[in-house]
Amino acid sequence: MEPAAPPKTFRVKSFGCQMNVYDGERMAELLAERGIVPAPEGEDADLVVLNTCHIREKAAEKVYSDIGRLAATGRRSGKTPLIAVAGCVAQAEGEEIMRRAPAVSIVVGPQAYHRLPDMLDTAVSGKRAADTDMPAIAKFDALPQRRKRGASAFLTVQEGCDKFCTYCVVPYTRGAEISRPFAHLITEAHTLVEAGAKEITLLGQNVNAWRGEDHKGRATGLAGLIHALAAIDGLARIRYTTSHPNDMEDSLIAAHGEVAKLMPYLHLPVQSGSDRVLKAMNRQHSAESYVRIIERFRAVRPDLALSGDFIVGFPGETEADFEDTLRIVDEVRYAHAFSFKYSPRPGTPAASMDGQIDPEVMHDRLQRLQARLGQHQFAFNRDSVGQTCEILIDRLGRDPGQWLGKSPWLQSVWLDQEHGHNHALGDLVEVRLADAGPNSLRGERTQVLFD
Ligand code: 5AD
Ligand code: SF4
Repeated sequence: MEPAAPPKTFRVKSFGCQMNVYDGERMAELLAERGIVPAPEGEDADLVVLNTCHIREKAAEKVYSDIGRLAATGRRSGKTPLIAVAGCVAQAEGEEIMRRAPAVSIVVGPQAYHRLPDMLDTAVSGKRAADTDMPAIAKFDALPQRRKRGASAFLTVQEGCDKFCTYCVVPYTRGAEISRPFAHLITEAHTLVEAGAKEITLLGQNVNAWRGEDHKGRATGLAGLIHALAAIDGLARIRYTTSHPNDMEDSLIAAHGEVAKLMPYLHLPVQSGSDRVLKAMNRQHSAESYVRIIERFRAVRPDLALSGDFIVGFPGETEADFEDTLRIVDEVRYAHAFSFKYSPRPGTPAASMDGQIDPEVMHDRLQRLQARLGQHQFAFNRDSVGQTCEILIDRLGRDPGQWLGKSPWLQSVWLDQEHGHNHALGDLVEVRLADAGPNSLRGERTQVLFD
C-alpha cells in the first residue's frame, strides 16, 4: 500500500443491532478526539468505517460490494478513501477480507476498536492493519469520555454471549459474556445525562446477565444497576435490551413494579413456540417456561408491552411447529416484534443440520407470522387509546409543526402543533393518546412537563 495523507474527515456506516450503533458512536468519538471531523452530508469522506453485521443474510457479500463501490468512486474522483472494516464481519472474516479486498487498510473487530487511532497511523504510513483480539474490558477502559448528545442514548453494559444457540454467530463474533464495572457505567450515565440524555437504554447481547458490585461492594444484577441509575437527577427513562429468559432474576421482575423510571417494555426473544425446535436451537428453555416468566412480569406491571424475536424455517421446523409459534404469539399478545427467516451462518451447528427448509415455505411462514404479529401490535395500540402518558420527542415529522416521540411502551406517537406550542427534540410532553394506527398513534398535547 502507498502511504496516504492523514484523513481529515470520516464517515462511520453502522449496520445491524443497537450495539453496533453504540460502537459506531464510540468509534466516531475516538476519531473526533484525533481531530478528524465527520464528513459533511453528501461529501466523500477521507476515511470510511464500515461497521458490519454478521447475524443474517449475505452480510459479507454486502461488505465486499460496499468496498468495491467506495474504491470505484475513489478511482473516479482521484481520491480513494481509507477503508476500515469493523464489526462482526471483520471479526468473523478478517483474514478473508484482507486477502480479497486490497482496498481495505484496516480490519478491526468489535472488541478491538479502541486501537483504531493507532491502526490509522499504520495505515497512513502505507501498511495494512488488522486486529481481531477479544480483550473486551480493555476496550472500554481505553475509550475516551462520551461526547454523545441527544435525548435518548445507548449505554453498553454487557457484551458477548455464552448461550450458543445453534443458529447464532454472536458467541463467535462478540466472544464470551462480560459485564462492565458498575462504577464505570454510573460515570458514563452521568456524562450522558449532563450532555442532555433523558433516556438511557442499557445494551447487552444478554443484558440481564449483567453482574457487578455496587458502590458498597455488594454483588448485584441488572436490577441493582437500574435502581442506581434511577437516582440520577435529570434522567427520566431507563430501558434495557436484549434479555434472555434463562438469566431472568426475581429482582429484575420486581424492579418493574418499583422503579417509576423503568419503562413498561420488555424485549424477550423466544424464537419459536415449539419445544422441539427450541431444543434443536439449544435455547435451554421451553415455550411454557417462557410464558410463565411473562406472567410474572405482568403480575407486577400489567400494562407491560412485550416484544420478541422470532425465527421461522429453522432446520426441521414442521407446519405443526410453526403453528406452535403462532399459538405463543396469541398467548403473549406482543406489542412489537422482530421476525426473520432462518439464515444459515457459516460455522454454526444449525448450518449443517438436516431438514433445511425450502425458501418458499419459509417465505410463506414469515408472511403468516408477520400478519399475526401485526394484528397484535395494532390491538395493543388501539387498547392504548384514551391513556395519558409522556412522549419523549425524538424526531420532527414530515409536515411543519409536527413532532414524533416515543410513548413509555415504545410506540411512535405523532403530535400536531396546537395553539402556537413549540417543542424541541428531547422534550417530554404529556399527551392523551387519541387515535391508533398499526404502526403509530396520534397524541393530543395536555401540558409540557419538562424542557
Ligand atoms: N437466522 C435468522 N435469524 C437469526 N437471528 C440470530 N441468528 C439468526 C439466524 N442465523 C435473530 C434472532 C435473534 C436476533 C437478534 O436475530 O431472532 O434474537
Ligand atoms: Fe445468539 Fe442465542 Fe446468544 Fe442471543 S442468546 S446472542 S440468539 S447465541
